[in-house]
Amino acid sequence: MSHQTVIVLDFGGQYNQLIARRVRECGVYCEMLPWTTPLDTLRAKQPIGFIFTGGPASVYEKNAPNIDPALLDWGVPILGICYGCQLLSQLLGGRVVPAAEDTAREYGKTETDFDPSCKLFSGLPDRGIVWMSHGDYMEQIPEGFTVAARSAACPTAAICHEARGFYGVQFHPEVAHTQGGTDMIRNFLYQVCGAAGDWTMGDYKTTAIQSLREKVGTGRVLLALSGGVDSAVAAALLSEAVGKQLVCVFVDHGLLRLHEAEEVEAAFAGRELQFVRVNAQRRFLMWLDGVKDPEEKRKIIGKEFIRVFEAEAKRIGAVEYLAQGTIYPDVIESGTGQAAAIKSHHNVGGLPDHVEFQEILEPLRMLFKDEVRALGRELGLPEELVSRQPFPGPGLAIRILGPVTKNKLDILRLADFIFREEIARAGLERSMDQYFAVLTNLRSVGVMGDGRTYDYAIALRSVTTSDFMTAAWTRIPYEVLDRISVRIVNEVPHVNRVLYDITSKPPATIEYE
Ligand code: XMP
Repeated sequence: MSHQTVIVLDFGGQYNQLIARRVRECGVYCEMLPWTTPLDTLRAKQPIGFIFTGGPASVYEKNAPNIDPALLDWGVPILGICYGCQLLSQLLGGRVVPAAEDTAREYGKTETDFDPSCKLFSGLPDRGIVWMSHGDYMEQIPEGFTVAARSAACPTAAICHEARGFYGVQFHPEVAHTQGGTDMIRNFLYQVCGAAGDWTMGDYKTTAIQSLREKVGTGRVLLALSGGVDSAVAAALLSEAVGKQLVCVFVDHGLLRLHEAEEVEAAFAGRELQFVRVNAQRRFLMWLDGVKDPEEKRKIIGKEFIRVFEAEAKRIGAVEYLAQGTIYPDVIESGTGQAAAIKSHHNVGGLPDHVEFQEILEPLRMLFKDEVRALGRELGLPEELVSRQPFPGPGLAIRILGPVTKNKLDILRLADFIFREEIARAGLERSMDQYFAVLTNLRSVGVMGDGRTYDYAIALRSVTTSDFMTAAWTRIPYEVLDRISVRIVNEVPHVNRVLYDITSKPPATIEYE
C-alpha cells in the first residue's frame, strides 16, 4: 500500500523525533532522513512536503549542514523549524546572524503574536505561548516572504511565502509547550501540502511487519522479553512477522518485583510463542555486589543481559538476531547524537561494546510509549498487558540507592507490593502512569512500641505522563497515602519511615538512578 509521504529532513535537533511523532499523530506517513541524503533518493520518495528540523549548528558557520538548493525548485512545500527555518531563509537570500545578548535570542516559553491570515496559523488565536530555543535570528527575510509571527525579542518569529508553500518558524511547534503547535503542523500538512490523512497505526504495523520479514529472511531471532509493555509489543510484532523463527527469552535477574517472574511466565508461556525462562539471579547479584554508582550498575546489568542472551543463543543454535523492545525515550536519554546522556538505559547506553549477534533489531525504536501501546492494541494484545505500567530492565537495582543486597531487595519488594496493592484497592491504577517504591539509603531514628529504631526510609514515587519524557507527580489522596504508610512501617521489617516524592520530571527523572 502506498501512502502520501512527508520527509522530515534531520539537521540534528533535540526534538526531531517529536516532529515525526506529531506528523504521525496527524494521520500522515513520514520518514526522517539525514540532511546528507542525496537528492535522487529524496525525489524517488515523491514527498508531498518537507519539514526541515532544528539543529545545533549556525547556518553561517563553515561546513554547516546544508542542502542542494535545487530541492527548492521542485514545487514541494517546505516547513522549516528553527535551524531549518534559518537555512531556508539563507538559501533564498535572507540574512541570518547571531543574536546580540538579550535581543532576539530566546529560550523557553515566549509570548508570540501570529498573523492568522497565514495558512500555518489559520484557526488559531492571534497570540499564544511558543517554545523558543535559538541563538541566531533572521535579520533580513528573503524577498517575496512576509513576517507571520513576532515576539518581543524577535521580529521575525515566523515567515511565509504562501505562493511557493514555504514556511519557517523560529520556535518549536512540535513540543507540548507550544500552544496550538500540533495545529500548526496539521495546517501545514493539510492546508499547504494537501495531505489526505491516509496513515494509521494499522499501517505502521503492516509496514513494520513487512520490513522485519525482509530483514530477517529465514534467520532466527532471539527476543529479550521482560514482560513489560515494550518487549511484549515487540514480541507480538515479531511473532506476526517471522512466526516460529522467534524465540522469546525472559531473564529472571533477581531484581524483579514480588511474584513478577511467575506472572510473566504465566502470561507468555501459554501463547503461541517459544518462551524460555532463564534463572540468573546469582550471577546478577554477584556482579552487582558492592557497586553503588548508578551508571556502573546500569552498565553491569546491560552487559550481563547480553551475556545471558548470548549463552542462550548458543544453546538454541543458529540465532542471528537479537531483538529488543527499545523505545525512543530509552534512546534519547542514553545520549545519542547531539543529545546529552541522562542515564544509560540498559538496552541502549548499557550495552557492551561487543555483542555476539549479527545485528540488533529494535522495531519500536522510533516510537513513544503511548504509540507503543496503540500498536499493541492493533496487534490484539490484551488491555491489561498493553496498559501495564512500565518496569525498567535494570529492575529494582535502580530503585535501591547504593549497593544492592538480597536483604534490601526483599525489603523493597514487599514495600512496593503493598503500595501497588493499596493503589489497586483504592481503584487508582488508571489515574497514574507509573508508581513504585524506592529504598533510599537513608536510615533514621524512629520509635516503635517503647523502643528506638534506626531503620530505612522508603520513598513512594508516582507520576502522571503520556510520553515519559516529562512527568508530573500524582496527587494521591492523603487517606490512601496514610494507609500505605501505616501498612509499610507495620509489615515491612527494617522500615520506619515513608516519604512521598513530589518532584516532577524535569528536574527529577522518574526512576531514582
Ligand atoms: P526516567 O527515570 O529516565 O525514566 O525518567 C523514563 C522511563 O524509562 C524507564 N527506564 C528504563 N526502562 N531500561 C528500561 O527498560 C532502563 O534502563 C530504564 N531506565 C528508565 C523508566 O521506568 C520510565 O518509565
